[in-house]
Amino acid sequence: MQQARSLGAQIKTKQRVRDLAEVYTHEREVNAMLDLVADMFPSEERPRDIGRTFLEPSCGAGNFLVAILDRKLAYVGFGALYRSVATFETAVLKALSSIYGIDIDSENVEQSRAFLRADVAQHMNLHLNTVPVSEGFWPAVEAVLATNIIRADTIKDAQRILLVEYRWQRRTGEVIRAWSHLKEPDGQLDLFGQTGDGPLGDEVPIHYGLLGDHPEPVRRQKSTSRRAGRTEGSQA
Ligand SMILES: C[S@@+](CC[C@H](N)C(=O)[O-])C[C@H]1O[C@@H](n2cnc3c(N)ncnc32)[C@H](O)[C@@H]1O
Repeated sequence: MQQARSLGAQIKTKQRVRDLAEVYTHEREVNAMLDLVADMFPSEERPRDIGRTFLEPSCGAGNFLVAILDRKLAYVGFGALYRSVATFETAVLKALSSIYGIDIDSENVEQSRAFLRADVAQHMNLHLNTVPVSEGFWPAVEAVLATNIIRADTIKDAQRILLVEYRWQRRTGEVIRAWSHLKEPDGQLDLFGQTGDGPLGDEVPIHYGLLGDHPEPVRRQKSTSRRAGRTEGSQA
C-alpha cells in the first residue's frame, strides 16, 4: 500500500541527534526488518490475523508504526471479508489498536499520531470512497491514538506507563479494554500482565462508537434500569 506520507529525512537537527539519538530508520530498513517477522502479519492464508501486538519503545516519527499498520490494513478491505461499514471499521480499529508507540519527545509523539491518522484516512477514502464513515469512528481512532501512542521515558517510567489492551468482539463492534503497566514490580517488562493492584478495565463491553466519550474504564450500571448491560463512564 502507498504510505500516507513519505518517510522523508532521517534526521531533523544535529542537536536532536545529540540530545535524543534521533535518527529515523529508512523505509528500506524498516521493511527489511518487518520481513523478518512476516508471520506476525496477516497473509492470504490468515487474512483475519490483524491483531498481533507491536510495541515500539522509542517510536520517533512513527516510521515502523505506519509500516506495521500498512501491512495489517492491506488485508482489511471493504466488501470482501468485511461487508458492512461497521465490521470494516471494527477491523481497522482492531489493527490500529494493536500497535503501541512510546517516545520521550512530544513532537515525535504528535508526528506518530498524525502519521497513523493520515494512514487510516487514506485507507478509509480508498475503500469507502463516497460511503461515509460512522459518526463515532474518528473519535474512536483518536481514543486509540491517545492510549497507544504516548510520551514517556520508556526506561525510567516503565513502572508508571499504563497501556491499554483492546480485546475486540468482531461481530458486534464492541471491545473490552484492560489497562496494565509496561513493567511489573518484579522488574519484568510485561506487556499486558496484571497490575499489582489487580486488573483494571471495562466491566462491560463498549461499542467503538462510544470510545471517544469513555476514555476511562466503564462499569456495569448498578441501577434498576431495564436496559441491562448499559455502560457508565467512571474512574475505576
Ligand atoms: C534512533 S531514533 C529511532 C526512531 C524510530 N524508532 C525509528 O526507527 O525511526 C531514537 C528515538 O528514541 C527516542 N528516545 C530516546 N530516549 C528515549 C527514552 N528514554 N524513552 C523513549 N524514547 C526515547 C528519541 O526521541 C528518538 O525518537
